[in-house]
Amino acid sequence: MKEKIEALVSQLEAEIKDTNSLDQIEAIRVKYLGKSGELTQMMPLIKTLPNEEKPTFGKWINDAKVAMESMITNAKNEVLAKELDFKLAKESIDVTLPGYQFKQASIHPLSLVIEDLEDYFIGQGFNVAEGPELEQDLYNFEMMNLAKGHPAREMHDSFYVTETELMRTHTSPVQARFMLQAAGNPIAIISPGKTYRRDPDDATHSHQFMQCEGLVVGENISFANLKAVLLGMARHLFGEAREIRLRPSYFPFTEPSVEVDVMFTKKDGSKRWIEVLGAGMVHPNVLKMGGYNPEVMNGFAFGIGVERIAILKYGIDDIRNFYTNDRRFLNQFKGE
Ligand code: DAH
Repeated sequence: MKEKIEALVSQLEAEIKDTNSLDQIEAIRVKYLGKSGELTQMMPLIKTLPNEEKPTFGKWINDAKVAMESMITNAKNEVLAKELDFKLAKESIDVTLPGYQFKQASIHPLSLVIEDLEDYFIGQGFNVAEGPELEQDLYNFEMMNLAKGHPAREMHDSFYVTETELMRTHTSPVQARFMLQAAGNPIAIISPGKTYRRDPDDATHSHQFMQCEGLVVGENISFANLKAVLLGMARHLFGEAREIRLRPSYFPFTEPSVEVDVMFTKKDGSKRWIEVLGAGMVHPNVLKMGGYNPEVMNGFAFGIGVERIAILKYGIDDIRNFYTNDRRFLNQFKGE
């Protein structure tokens, strides 16, 4: 009897050695210690034994049960430990691996110039205003003192979308819109944005380009105020010692009108004036149409060529670079 019981223990020991899952171990436990397990089935035999043999038999069975249970517990613990090791190995992070390589993006040079302009003008007390690119003839031309048939309309060869709507040829219509909105109150705004003309596309012309409009309306606004604001702008954009020059010009919406040049020094040391914007004192007709009494209120306005500024600032020689999205070009403006 004793041998049989010990044989069961050895059998279990041999079987449990090769297990590697809790399910397998449980099956072995049931096989020997379950309700009809091999060891369990031997227990009732005790009743058939003479009284003096009963304690010895009971001890064999009990020792076998304790041994089996301890083997089962050990085996279970081993499997659990292995599973944990496996899980840890799988979830571990290798801190020595190289990180993901994120490419740093760059800000478009035209956006850089606009940010720079906004920076300066907001500092001078201006607000940034916006107007639609699909504009009404009324704002784009008429309220800018360019009545139908006005010869200056020819400077603005335009993309008409309907009889009365066109892609705006300049940012000046924002002036008209804001005058009406301000309802007779003082104004100081700039308005950067896209503009469109039927120009051929070449190194110096584009059917789409950007301007930044400026408008100040108030009492006793002088030409000297205009000059001071523009000189400050040139120095903010291009450096402290920068000089500007105002040349008489003509725009229908300003009187007097000027073109503004900024002084640049070429590589060979020679100096050169380069035109960057148009400006002037707001024409009385424009003020009147905008709801102001030109006897009481006046103002100045200007229109900056954004590409012009970018070309000068970054030494770009072909305007098409701004629109073709060549990343070799754009990547040069990282970290500006
Ligand atoms: N709108 C003009 C253009 O597109 C630029 C301009 C000139 C705007 C003088 C102004 C200004 O506000 O006063 O050529």
